[in-house]
This record gives sequence, C-alpha cells and structure tokens, in this order.
Amino acid sequence: MMKELTTRYVCSQCGRIEVKWLGRCPDCGSWNSFTEEVVKKQGKSGKKQLVSDTNKNQTVALSEIEIGEDFRYSSGISEFDRVLGGGIMRGGTVLLGGEPGIGKSTLMLQLLGSIKNRSVLYVSGEESPGQVRSRAQRIGVPLDSVSLFNDTRLEPLQEILSRDRYDVVVVDSLQTLSSEELPSAAGSVNQLRLCTMELVDAAKKAGSALFFIGHITKEGQIAGPKAIEHIVDTVLYFEQAGSGVRIVRAVKNRFGSVDEIGIFLMTEKGLVSVPDPAGFFLSERTEGSLPAGISFTAVVEGSRTFMVEIQALVIPAKSGYSRVYSERIDTARVTRVAAVLERHAGLTLSDKDIYVNVAGGIKLSEVSIELPLALAIHSAATSRPLPATLVSMGELSLAGEVRPVSYGEKRVKGAIDMGFSTILAPSSMPLEHHASMLRCERIDEAVGKLEKLPRTIGKHP
Ligand code: TYD
Ligand code: MG
Repeated sequence: MMKELTTRYVCSQCGRIEVKWLGRCPDCGSWNSFTEEVVKKQGKSGKKQLVSDTNKNQTVALSEIEIGEDFRYSSGISEFDRVLGGGIMRGGTVLLGGEPGIGKSTLMLQLLGSIKNRSVLYVSGEESPGQVRSRAQRIGVPLDSVSLFNDTRLEPLQEILSRDRYDVVVVDSLQTLSSEELPSAAGSVNQLRLCTMELVDAAKKAGSALFFIGHITKEGQIAGPKAIEHIVDTVLYFEQAGSGVRIVRAVKNRFGSVDEIGIFLMTEKGLVSVPDPAGFFLSERTEGSLPAGISFTAVVEGSRTFMVEIQALVIPAKSGYSRVYSERIDTARVTRVAAVLERHAGLTLSDKDIYVNVAGGIKLSEVSIELPLALAIHSAATSRPLPATLVSMGELSLAGEVRPVSYGEKRVKGAIDMGFSTILAPSSMPLEHHASMLRCERIDEAVGKLEKLPRTIGKHP
C-alpha cells in the first residue's frame, strides 16, 4: 500500500512545526533552524496515535484501570533508580543525552546487565558486536543475559520490538538510526523524530521500557535530542563534574520528581554509584585555617544534602573592563552578586576580573548559594580567609538584603553532621537555635559579623 507523503518544516532546536519555511523560529528565536521533513499523511483523526488505541470513544473510571504488579521495577543500580523516580516504568520511554565520551553507552550496558529476570536488548549502531562484547566483559555484564541487535535500520527494529516484546530496550544511539521511508540521512531532525515516534509507539504497545541514547555537543548546536524531548516520558542528561565524577540529572519526568540527581564515579570497571555524597565534593585539607576566597554551603538535591566548597579569585582586570569567569555557577548570578557587594558591602570590583569555581566540579543553581558566593568573593577581594568551620546560606536581593531559603533545617543538619559548627543564616529564616548560629539581615551586616570572628576558629572538618 502506498503511503501518502507530505512536507512540513521543523525547528531543529525546539521541535516547532510549521507548514512553511521560516528564517527564525517564533518559539525559541533560533535563526535558520527550520529543516524540511517529509512525513506520512496521518489518518482521518489527523493526530498520531501514540498510546494504545483500544477502547476508542469510551471513557473509563481511573479505579477500573488495572496496573500490573511489575508496573515499576528496580534497574538494579540505586543511583539510576533514584533519577528515574523509583525505577524503570513498564512502557516508559527515556532519553539519555550527553556529550560524546561521557559514559552513556557504559551506563546503559551496565543497566542491562544489572536488571534481574527480564529480557533485555541492546541495539547498537555505533560499535561492532566485538566491541560491545569486550566492553560488556570488561565491566562485568553477564553476557548470556543481554541480547544484541547490531543494526541501524528502523523497520527491522520495529519488527523485533513487536515480535519479541523485550522488557527493556536500549537504542545506542538515536543519531545512528534511520528509516528507509525518508530520504534524509541518519541523524537529521526528520529521521530522529520519525524513528523516535515509531519506536515509542512500538514500545508502548509491547510494554517495553525504551532508553534512547542521544549525543549532544558542548554548545548544544547539533540538531537532536532537544527536538524529541517532548515525545519521550523522561529526559535525563549526563554531566561531568570533576574528572571522574558523572552526574545524571532529570530535566523532565512524567513518572517522578526532577529533584533527584544520580552521582557516579567512572572507574576502570565502569560507573560506580555514590550513594552517600554528604562530604563527597569537599576538597581534602589538613590544616585548620583556610586560604582566602573559600566558603562552604549545604546543597539539597531531592532527598539528600551535601556540602560544597565555593572558590573565588579576584584580580585586577586584564582588559579595561571587569570580567567574570564561572562555569559551575551561572555567570549572570556571579555578576549580580558582585554588583550587590560593590553597592552594599563597600567593595570595588568593577576594575577586577572575578573567577568562580566549585570544588568537585558540580554545577550549582540553587538561590541559597548567593550568600556563600558573596562571602567567597568578599574574602578573595579582601584577602581575608573565612572561618574554616563556617557554613552559610541565603538569597541576596539587589537591595543587599539576605533572604530566607528553603530546607533550612536540612541544610543545618547536613552541615553539622559533616563537622561544620558555625552557621550563618538570614534572620527571617525559621531555624532551631544552635550554639554557634549567627543571623544577618543584610550583606554588610553578614560581612561585619564575620570580621569579628577569629579566622582560625575550629578545625576544618
Ligand atoms: P562511553 O560509555 O563509551 O561514552 P559515550 O557512550 O557517552 O560516548 O564511555 C567513554 C569513556 O569512558 C571512555 O573514554 C573510557 C571511559 N571508560 C572508563 O573509564 N571505564 C570503563 O569501564 C569504560 C567502559 C569506559
Ligand atoms: Mg557511546
């Protein structure tokens, strides 16, 4: 049967669909991002049916819907279950994106090897069967338990999915797959979208959980994972923090929260979970006092609290104007905090370059890091170290006020558990009183209170 074809235009950055080509995407503002896509004409309803199409035109009470016992099950990797929101969902579709070489294939192969009593399939279009086998052997994946389909064609894969109904399928990678029905090359937006939609459809019907691996570049330029984020249930991104540390973060999850992160270490035997990260990101130090420019804070990610070290360096500007260099904390936030310090804490920073880093390389995006960030920059600019036992938290307003943040008690407990003893928190934050707790309302008050403390109190935990 001949299928009718129709042409449309898709933004390779955000996936917006237009009937005519546009120079600039009205949604995401990208230029020249629309590419032509040839698609099969839809049925009469005009809408592609992605979920099971039984019981059309009928409603059903939620209580009458049956959920099998194995609706959600463990992947066998605790940190991965955590980011998934509790485990693998039957029929759930997941995109795992990340830069080349970060460990996507390794993690997915380990995943297939650690799932108990399920049929699992690894689809590889990137590596030869020999390469897959030798990697699996090296990282200790039981070879008998994983099947391999070494191909890049969509149609035979669809057939396998509906015939063999594997419990879990990993597609490595999305960019190598292509359908013979489209003239465009593998990796183009058209191919990506068609292959994803077709496979999601096949997986939902077969009850298979489907994991797609997608490459992204540092600049995020390559057409790809972004354009299919809305088709899958869960989107995970792999990020590198420090040389061996890998963090998996959910940016979308229909089946759980996106607060939890998974922390792994890359070793010669593959990725190893880091289940207790409380002090994992702190640098080792032996002396009691700190160098100038370092401050500590407690970060809450989902159910866990861990300590991080913010480092700042302030030097005369190399060019005529001030610049901020910061990869782990948003540059705009550093610039704003520096402006607040300049206006409200008497520092001159407009002729300085400011460098900011986070030990262990983890990215920080919580507002609660603004006070500790300000203290690190202040300490660097004045060459006065902060007390080694100090932990601070708070948001900074443009008017120089220190504002309360969420999870106060959790942060205080996390800090005390790790051996920190001096807590600096906003006055308006409801916190149980604690022997060496300092309170402040404004940034200048915070700096003033710390100046009065001996620099070397306590020993750094
Ligand atoms: P890989 O999973 O191939 O990355 P991706 O699929 O995201 O491109 O992993 C690539 C890197 O991980 C590679 O440079 C080597 C390193 N690695 C280890 O350190 N230990 C291991 O056990 C494995 C399998 C890989
Ligand atoms: Mg790979």
